[in-house]
Amino acid sequence: MALTTALTTAVGKQTQLSEVAGIPLQAAAVDNWSQIQSFEAQPDDLLICTYPKSGTTWIQEIVDMIEQNGDMEKCQRALIQHRHPLIEWARPPLPSGVEQAKAMPPPRTLRTHLPAQLLPPSFWENSCKFLYVARNAKDCMVSYYHFQRMNQVLPDPGTWEEYFETFISGKVGWGSWFDHVKGWWEMKDRYQILFLLFEDIKRDPKHEIQKVMRFMGKNLDEAVLDKIVQETSFEKMKENPMTNRSTVPKSILDQSISPFMRKGTVGDWKNHFTVAQNERFDEIYRKKMEGISINFCMEL
Ligand code: A3P
Repeated sequence: MALTTALTTAVGKQTQLSEVAGIPLQAAAVDNWSQIQSFEAQPDDLLICTYPKSGTTWIQEIVDMIEQNGDMEKCQRALIQHRHPLIEWARPPLPSGVEQAKAMPPPRTLRTHLPAQLLPPSFWENSCKFLYVARNAKDCMVSYYHFQRMNQVLPDPGTWEEYFETFISGKVGWGSWFDHVKGWWEMKDRYQILFLLFEDIKRDPKHEIQKVMRFMGKNLDEAVLDKIVQETSFEKMKENPMTNRSTVPKSILDQSISPFMRKGTVGDWKNHFTVAQNERFDEIYRKKMEGISINFCMEL
């Protein structure tokens, strides 16, 4: 098992992050690390991969609606977080993400926020399909900041100024945005990875949903595609109790602080970043993402 280090403990909150190979993860996931690493993927698994706050829930609902041929009732069978287990999830004594996945009939759709280098090796060995969604770093930071404010099992983010430093230094759950996006991008030509951008889905959902459909080997008619576009809009998913996390206890997600389905927009970073922060961020981005040709859209 990798060396673990406690990073943060906040009074009154179970917010400890530990590390695996330098990547901060929830302590319970680190405790469960050997089970996670020895996870047995199946060749027909589809793995949804994201850095946190990049549209995971959104792409899950899209994938599920495609799998269910647009049948909304079937998508209502379970809460979104239970439909596609997060493989590194652990909160004893509840069944871990690995245990939930093991109990699923094939073909399975699973989910992870792990950086590529920490993925259980069996996913690569079995040539599974991976669906990666990346979101521009600035909006991702804003979304993560508000999520850490309302999430009672993640560290308190402090002030926006403090969080800005925490985020750019990668001292947040699942590590550095830069390394995560770069790591998965670099894998994309060697494995079956469909690499999508949050902003593209926002701008032209039907086009991106069609890409996902083809990648999943499905063929749905126009009317079904239009229905999926409608049902996976921000407004619909915000109202939908199966996707808006409204059933999660306040002791875990306090939506009176900030809703889980918060804004769902591109460019909210402009309401948070100072001019100086923006300049500094752009400079860091240039250095860290050198040679990575992803053209992130920063506003729509
Ligand atoms: P904001 O905090 O910017 O609103 P994740 O599911 O990875 O935790 O990502 C959550 C982010 O995706 C939140 O961003 C949330 O509002 C946004 N989101 C979820 N569903 C969406 C949808 N249907 N359309 C647009 N954004 C969506």
